[in-house]
Amino acid sequence: MERYNNIIELKEISSTNDYALELARTKIVPEFTVIRADFQTKGRGQIGNHWVADSGKNLLFSVILHPTHISANNQFILSQCVSLALFRTVSLFCDDVAIKWPNDLYVGDKKIAGILIENLLNGKQIASSIIGIGLNVNQEEFVGAVNPVSFKNILHKELNINELLLLFLKELDSLYSQIPQNNKAIQDEYLNHLYLKAQQATFKDKDGKFIGTITSVANDGKLHIIDSTGRERTYYFKEVEYLIL
Ligand code: BTN
Repeated sequence: MERYNNIIELKEISSTNDYALELARTKIVPEFTVIRADFQTKGRGQIGNHWVADSGKNLLFSVILHPTHISANNQFILSQCVSLALFRTVSLFCDDVAIKWPNDLYVGDKKIAGILIENLLNGKQIASSIIGIGLNVNQEEFVGAVNPVSFKNILHKELNINELLLLFLKELDSLYSQIPQNNKAIQDEYLNHLYLKAQQATFKDKDGKFIGTITSVANDGKLHIIDSTGRERTYYFKEVEYLIL
């Protein structure tokens, strides 16, 4: 029997992450329990954004993990595994796929998927991790999203949403089981597929716009950029923006 056969399918919910958080807070839930919804009335994105997706056309789900072997200050490795699992899944169908730091999935210069990871802590340990993913599949038009793209936009055909979910879970299972013994390989693969790595691009931080080149991502998730004056700048999530012109 597969490790991930516990899939709760819902027609409509406020947010699969909210449902999963409540479940993990109140019940003993096996790892790889998945909550998938056709439609979310209050889908949440990063930094308080909304995640809006048409009903029945996209893959909207949350996976519950219990990464008790990862300390809270080392949690970026989990984010890297999730990004890579999604990268590998999308790459089965499309070329030019990349991970936009820290964990958006891009095809070309457009966003095909977003990831929202929320943790329940027990002291310094992560008791449960809710991995929320929105993957644009068969929707063709988007309102309000920045730079969206779907498989349908790229491939001009529809894909089976449940098959995509199973492909992703297989990849996630394989990567997740390699923590911590293969952390280095996971970090290297993540860096290899980083959007705009080693290419000159325009960024914006609290002091304004600058031109720079991404050189690496540290194991704690910090982005390193060398600017055009040769100065190294480092940023945590949301301290810097990419300006896609
Ligand atoms: C982002 O801002 O890029 C992250 C988007 C994450 C959206 C998914 S959809 C399924 C899950 N439930 C939510 O409410 N959000 C995540």
